[in-house]
Amino acid sequence: MYRTHHCGELRIENKDQRVKLSGWVQKIRNLGGMTFVDIRDRYGLSQLVFDLERNEVLSNSARELGREFVISVSGIVLERSNKNKNMPTGDIEILVDEIEILSKSEIPPFTIEDETDGGEELRMKYRYLDLRRNPIRRGLELRHKMSREFRNYLDNNNFVEAETPVLIKSTPEGARDFVVPSRMHAGEFYALPQSPQIFKQLFMVAGLDRYYQIVKCFRDEDFRADRQPEFTQIDCEMSFVDEDDVIKMLEGMAKHLFKTIKGIDFTYEFPRLTYEYAMNNYGSDKPDLRFDMKIHPLNDIVKNKGFKVFDDSEYVGGICVENAALYTRKQLDSLTDFVKTPQVGAKGLVYVKYNEDGTLKSSVDKFYSEEELKKWAEALNAKKGDLLLVVSGEMQKSLEILGKLRLEMGKQLGLMPKDKFVPLWVVDFPLLEWNEESKRFHAMHHPFTSPKKEDLNLLDKNPAKVRANAYDFVINGNEIGGGSIRIFDEKLQHKMFDLLGFTKEQAEAQFGFLMSAFKYGAPPHGGAAFGLDRWVALFNGSDSIRDVIAFPKNNAGRDIMNDAPALIDDKQLKELSLIVVK
Ligand code: AMO
Repeated sequence: MYRTHHCGELRIENKDQRVKLSGWVQKIRNLGGMTFVDIRDRYGLSQLVFDLERNEVLSNSARELGREFVISVSGIVLERSNKNKNMPTGDIEILVDEIEILSKSEIPPFTIEDETDGGEELRMKYRYLDLRRNPIRRGLELRHKMSREFRNYLDNNNFVEAETPVLIKSTPEGARDFVVPSRMHAGEFYALPQSPQIFKQLFMVAGLDRYYQIVKCFRDEDFRADRQPEFTQIDCEMSFVDEDDVIKMLEGMAKHLFKTIKGIDFTYEFPRLTYEYAMNNYGSDKPDLRFDMKIHPLNDIVKNKGFKVFDDSEYVGGICVENAALYTRKQLDSLTDFVKTPQVGAKGLVYVKYNEDGTLKSSVDKFYSEEELKKWAEALNAKKGDLLLVVSGEMQKSLEILGKLRLEMGKQLGLMPKDKFVPLWVVDFPLLEWNEESKRFHAMHHPFTSPKKEDLNLLDKNPAKVRANAYDFVINGNEIGGGSIRIFDEKLQHKMFDLLGFTKEQAEAQFGFLMSAFKYGAPPHGGAAFGLDRWVALFNGSDSIRDVIAFPKNNAGRDIMNDAPALIDDKQLKELSLIVVK
């Protein structure tokens, strides 16, 4: 037997008991005749005491221990004279009379503590040591609890968890595929699924009615803090539903998660913002509504006053930053630098300070009188003490810039506390978006998303104006999930492929099996998928999803612990009929 208790379990009630603990050495302190050792396992820490006077041999062996040695000790629980209120086991210590070293450890490359001295690369290389640290382990435990609650909710609502294949056929839409060469079929390749999209639709054709899967997806796309090349979705699909049915069911799931994991009871319906409203007011299709600071158009007020930059712009708009009129020249300059960075992409920034004494001071005083600036302030609902920030240019681009500026101001002014959650839906996404590079429309969500009935007549005339039965789930500015009501009519699906630039033959070659399934009675269906990594990171208060993934890739898509991707040997290449061209 290795242990009677775990290392976080013993309390004053256990006083005088004989116990056995096993775990890792966290810390060793030699104080004259006494040696104190903290022993750690997943559940916590306990303090061990070795007394030189009572047992010299034992005490000497304690002095030879090193950090991260794995040991097993027996002894008696004593009440501590010097209690530690910050430790759950801080009232007691174990006077050790037997010790076994189960395995030794080299000096770890970084300290195994909540605040470690190890940099990201080092921690990733020795991820198994990083996972010993409380904050990382807690992230994994949270992930487990959340997965369990997703399953509980979906199970209680009649969803069947069913698996879908991982070696599938490559489809060009969306991100790039990861591909896997076939040995048995020289020159042919499988692809890893970007999502189980088509398979879950086939489940609906098959009559499964309600499906879900917590599933790995693979996308060869550029790195961001909230993206990994392999990530996990909570993937759902339902039959005989409209958009409202799906949103209600999955909103129920979100509420269940908030309640069981965060103890937050949302008693109201989450707001549903149209895509157009979100873009016009927040400059983003995933607005962070922990604070307001809406964007307002200023075209009517600012044009034709001799300021050429505004006169020549399609759009002029601004935000009102409350209580920020005291921003210094230096702070305003650095805001201008911020909007000019390539990630934001503005040409410049105009500001107006609405001073406490009622005067208005702007960076465009040459062109606008105080009287005129007052009108700007009115349009932006500004009061004394506020700062107005104004951007101009092409409309969509300016809205996006203002959206990014809005988030920056929210950050600077501390308006985005991590323990405040504002969930919402964004609905009525455009069906298509024009891609300048390929000179054709791409599906904004995916090619199986249905157009709104009332916009069907625009499909030929003005495809860019067609709205989709598509929705995203957003929490605090993060796209946590997305889905749609699908096309279930073969003819409409063909039309969609046509709009997306597929020839009949290409569509047949890529999606023939879905089209043929639709010939045998497809029910109306729809669903959504949620990013588990993103959702856990958000609940965990992490800035990067890497914190809540056991073995993540680094920002170059590399697993630096097991060194993947890696070369394979010539024999393997030959078996796969592959030649590497350098
Ligand atoms: P979508 O592509 O919107 O939809 O993906 C759903 C959710 O998955 C998460 N996500 C990611 N998380 C981490 N790293 C990535 N690279 C990554 N890409 C996406 C996001 C996103 O909202 N089949 C459709 C869903 C449907 O229509 O039912 C789909 O995959 O949180």
